[in-house]
Amino acid sequence: MQLYILGLASGTKKKISLSSNDLEKSLLFFLLKEKKIPLASSCNGHKVCKKCVFNEKLLMCNFTVKDFLDREIKISYL
Ligand code: FES
Repeated sequence: MQLYILGLASGTKKKISLSSNDLEKSLLFFLLKEKKIPLASSCNGHKVCKKCVFNEKLLMCNFTVKDFLDREIKISYL
C-alpha cells in the first residue's frame, strides 16, 4: 500500500509506503506531521483556508489516507 506524491512546481516525486494503521488517518496531518511534507494549511484542517488544495480542486483536509491509496496526489506549489 502506497501513496504517490507529485510536486508540480519542482517535478519531485515521492512514494510513501503505508501500514494498515495509517489508513484511517487524516491525509493532511499524515503527510504534514508524520511524513514532514511541507503542505500549506493555515486553518489547521478546519476546512476554512483552502490552502491545502491538491489535484486541482480537492482539499486535503477532507480526506483520509485510504481515500488516495495507490493514487497520485498532485500538489501545485511543491
Ligand atoms: S487546511 Fe485549511 S482548508 Fe484544508
